[in-house]
Amino acid sequence: MDESVVMQRIIERAQSLNQTVALPEAADPRTIHAGRMAQDANIADVILVGNPDQIASLAKSEGVDLAGIEIVDPDDPEQHATNAALYYDLRKHKGISEADAAGIASDPLYAATLLLKREIVDCTVQGAVHSTPDVLRALFQIIGAAEGISLASSCFVMTTPLEDMGVNGAFIYADAGVNPNPTAEQLADIAISSAESTRVYLEAEPKVAMLSFSTMGSAKHPDVDKVIEATRIANEKRPDLLIEGELQGDAAIVPEVAASKCPQSKIAGRANTLIFPDLGAGNIAYKLTQRLARAGAYGPLLQGLAKVGMDLSRGATAADICNVCAIAAVRATAP
Ligand SMILES: CC(C)(COP(=O)(O)OP(=O)(O)OC[C@H]1O[C@@H](n2cnc3c(N)ncnc32)[C@H](O)[C@@H]1OP(=O)(O)O)[C@@H](O)C(=O)NCCC(=O)NCCS
Repeated sequence: MDESVVMQRIIERAQSLNQTVALPEAADPRTIHAGRMAQDANIADVILVGNPDQIASLAKSEGVDLAGIEIVDPDDPEQHATNAALYYDLRKHKGISEADAAGIASDPLYAATLLLKREIVDCTVQGAVHSTPDVLRALFQIIGAAEGISLASSCFVMTTPLEDMGVNGAFIYADAGVNPNPTAEQLADIAISSAESTRVYLEAEPKVAMLSFSTMGSAKHPDVDKVIEATRIANEKRPDLLIEGELQGDAAIVPEVAASKCPQSKIAGRANTLIFPDLGAGNIAYKLTQRLARAGAYGPLLQGLAKVGMDLSRGATAADICNVCAIAAVRATAP
């Protein structure tokens, strides 16, 4: 499947969902252009978060008409008081002072995340200017992990030309961007969140392979034990999902290998959701798939948060940011 096919379908779905997205990096020209594009394409209602005078002046110099786009000023007295009180309430157990909370509430990144917490917006998109750790810290502090999930993680939508594998050649890979060394319990939650991502982004029933260098007991090692334990926990938490392991990469996606190594498996040879044992394996695998199979790699897309915030690459173009607005809008309406 081509990357553009997956993205086009996501855009079409976003257009029917009427979601509201906050863009806190409104001092950046790409974000202003992306906001206009998303609003014009009916992908989402856009709220730019930042200083209104600065945004108006940037829009003018960029030739962007802001008609129909709302601007929320973090320093508007009413917004600021509500956001500062909420942030203080969320973080006082960490010893933050009210004065520090007031300062943080003026930061557009935190103000947008607080609007998300208050359900003024359905999702946020940021990271064209801020680093990934900065984006994650705001989301983790204010939004946190989804109910029943111990941590947020990230996935990539991989699109390969191999139509007989995955979902017409498309896969979800996780975690390739956030958690360096998950425990068995955390790996189980990454698998559960990724199954949801397969439903949302690929519109397919997830077939989740817990990857290892061993297939169903072929090797013995503590690292294999972790994957076996993660599979057990994931199945215990979500018996409704098809999650199996431990499987080697070829047993997961090649039917002939699966037939000889683990013929009893329900998903081996046909997996569409690949869960890597740690960030090293996931990150290396997505980059090699991208280069060696000439695959599309879309992400990292945050998953497992209680509400939807998306991180961008700092190299993102306005069109990329607009696409991530569509992804966020679609994700925000998933159960
Ligand atoms: C996000 C990150 C910056 C947090 O690290 P940190 O600032 O050192 O802070 P901590 O580890 O103390 O975590 C801060 C808070 O986030 C929470 N948190 C950390 N990881 C989390 C996760 N995966 N999901 C949910 N919450 C998480 C912590 O529990 C903590 O919450 P608290 O302040 O309420 O106690 C760190 O996990 C990170 O850098 N991850 C890698 C991201 C990255 O660079 N990836 C590169 C590949 S794209």
